[in-house]
This record gives sequence, structure tokens and C-alpha cells, in this order.
Amino acid sequence: MRIYKTEDYKKMSKKAARIIASQIIMKPNCVLGLATGSTPIGLYKYLVKWYQKGELDFSEVVSVNLDEYKGLPKSNDQSYDYFMRDNLFGLVNIDAANTYLPDGLAEDSDLECERYERLIRSLGGVDLQLLGMGHNGHIGFNEPGDAFDLATHCVDLQPSTIEANKRFFASADDVPKQAYSMGIGTIMKAKKILLIVSGEDKAETLKKALHGPITPKLPASVLQLHPDVTVVGDAAAFSKM
Ligand code: F6R
Repeated sequence: MRIYKTEDYKKMSKKAARIIASQIIMKPNCVLGLATGSTPIGLYKYLVKWYQKGELDFSEVVSVNLDEYKGLPKSNDQSYDYFMRDNLFGLVNIDAANTYLPDGLAEDSDLECERYERLIRSLGGVDLQLLGMGHNGHIGFNEPGDAFDLATHCVDLQPSTIEANKRFFASADDVPKQAYSMGIGTIMKAKKILLIVSGEDKAETLKKALHGPITPKLPASVLQLHPDVTVVGDAAAFSKM
């Protein structure tokens, strides 16, 4: 595991963006696993900036996102599909046909999960998977539980996650109660993983994830078992180590 501690959020974003940019330069047709949430926003801004300067070309890049709310159409501005178009896809020359997310409106949840797993396999797997981490240690929407989930699945969101995400909705009642998420097994199959963490409020969880026991009670701890993980965090996120 490679660990980079940066001074602040901006420098964390730049460092992580450089790692993604390097991946694209090394393999222009790479498969990127992408994440939403607050943490990667700064990183996406750097990628957009470098694209605009002519330093990055997304024309052959393929992307698969970690997760999507169940029940939200792509047109809903809280859907992860919308987020990705707003923060990255709509601002760079990635081919929209090469950007994939679970379909929040799929009629049959099981079929949708199977379709997404098959899709990732058919793309040859993920070259670099970007991850953020929740306060409870969740990655994707893999909430603390009794077992590491394996493949893409439909998740019941925990009250703490609904609480954390309600800032984006009119009220907690408007936050979807379920989501599709790559499972821990899907995430662990990525060739490389890049975890980004910012803020003191995640410092205790980050310490446990990197140095504590490997347990489904703290899903991010499973990353200790992956052979190629890079963690980029700001000083606040590392303040308990
Ligand atoms: C987002 C995702 C989530 C977030 C996590 C942290 O696609 O899968 O696991 O990475 O909830 O969210 P932020 O960055 O908003 O603190």
C-alpha cells in the first residue's frame, strides 16, 4: 500500500488527479472505476482543467461507476449519472457511450446487478478504481455488515448514510432508501485502487481501515488485502495516525 499525505484538500485532489492522469496516459483506452460524493469533486476539476489545456485525452477512456441510487432517473440532479455528467463527462471528450453506471430505473434489481457485473467483465475489468470512504468506513455503498459482499448488489442504505446524504436533498425523506453498488468482490478485482480521504471527521475511521483488523464491520479495511492500493489523504484525514 502506498500512502500519500498532503497538506490540504486541494493538494490531495491534485495528487490523486495526477495518478488518474498517469493511468490515462499510460493506457489511453483504460477502464476507470469512478466515484461520486464530495471528495472527488476537486480531483475531477483538475482532470477537466488538464483536458482543456490539451494535456489529457479521454477519447478512448471507458468508465464504470461504483454505484447509483435506486429509483432516481438520470435526469434527477441527485442521480449519480447526473453528477458524473455535471462534474466530468460533460466537460471532457469522453464518449458518452463508454460511460456506464447501474440503471437506477431498472425494473428487475437482480437482473440489473447481473448485467452490471457482466458488463465490467466484458470490458476486461477495471484498471484503476477510485474510491471515497464514508464516515462508517463504507466504500461504494457497501455498508458495515457481517460479511464482505461479493458482487454488484442492491443495498438498503443505513440511517447514517441517509443522514450524511440528506444535505443534497430537500429532506431525509427524499433520500432514496436503496442503491445499486459494486460489491467488495467487484471492487477488489480492480487491478489498482486509489482511495481518497479528506477531513478530520474521517480520521479515526481511516486509521482503523488502514491499521485495524480486517473486518466487514469496517468495509474499507478489506483494502489491506489488495495488492495495489494507493491512499491519498489530507493532513486532517491522517491526524489520528
Ligand atoms: C460514491 C460512493 C461513496 C462515497 C462515500 C464518501 O460513489 O461510493 O462510497 O465515496 O460516501 O462520500 P463523500 O466523498 O461525499 O464524503
